[in-house]
Amino acid sequence: MDNKRIPEHIAIVMDGNGRWAKHRSLPRLAGHNAGMIALKEIVKRSSTLGVKHLTVYAFSTENWKRPKDEVGGIFKILVYYVNKELDELYENNVKVGILGDYSKLPKDAVEKLEEALAKTKNNTGLQFHIALNYGSRREILEAAKHMAIEVAEGRCRSEDLTEEMMSSFLYTKNIPDPDLVIRTSGEQRLSNFLLWQSAYSEFVFTDVYWPDFTTSCLEEAISEYQGRIRRFGGIK
Ligand code: IPE
Ligand code: IPE
Ligand code: MG
Repeated sequence: MDNKRIPEHIAIVMDGNGRWAKHRSLPRLAGHNAGMIALKEIVKRSSTLGVKHLTVYAFSTENWKRPKDEVGGIFKILVYYVNKELDELYENNVKVGILGDYSKLPKDAVEKLEEALAKTKNNTGLQFHIALNYGSRREILEAAKHMAIEVAEGRCRSEDLTEEMMSSFLYTKNIPDPDLVIRTSGEQRLSNFLLWQSAYSEFVFTDVYWPDFTTSCLEEAISEYQGRIRRFGGIK
């Protein structure tokens, strides 16, 4: 890995918590708990590597389909770790952000997350974005509705709408598009994650389950990214 060519924005689909647990004959929630421990190390390493933005997919708009106990447990684990790690995140100059409509989460989770947002809002280091109740299609639809309102209320002509305007109505407003998207657990799909934003991202898929994803796995993914040639439709 070349320490001077670190991607500015890394996005991760943290998948495989359930299968990690199953392989150990543990309940699925033990996998989600182990996933949080893995995440802590990845946040720290991203920060020391000089990554500017780390986005992690923690809960999708489709994950509500899961049994109530699992959904409730995931948010309990989230509250536990945000509470436990917030001081250290703050000390490490990490700025926390959320992508998605987190107002629909349980009340204690909303409160804890808002505390994290408020406490770290002036930090200038790694921007750590957590996608919670996030779905890219919904995000794009909401942005399209905003644009329709701009037109209906006469602030913009439909022919003048731009990609930049669309981007400015997404949750990722002010965040550059991900350079590298990593998905763990062997699945090779986006599952409604950053559809608009990943138009020219590089993808790295690994069979490792998320709880087993170590800082060296991260460095390996970065190194694979560094070997890619990004053309953005042009020629090199
Ligand atoms: C990812 O792990 C975490 C969430 C989706 C919340 P999974 O829970 O999807 O794990 P698998 O895919 O069942 O192994
Ligand atoms: C994607 O994983 C969502 C998160 C990692 C939060 P899923 O496990 O929900 O995705 P599918 O169902 O396998 O596509
Ligand atoms: Mg999964």
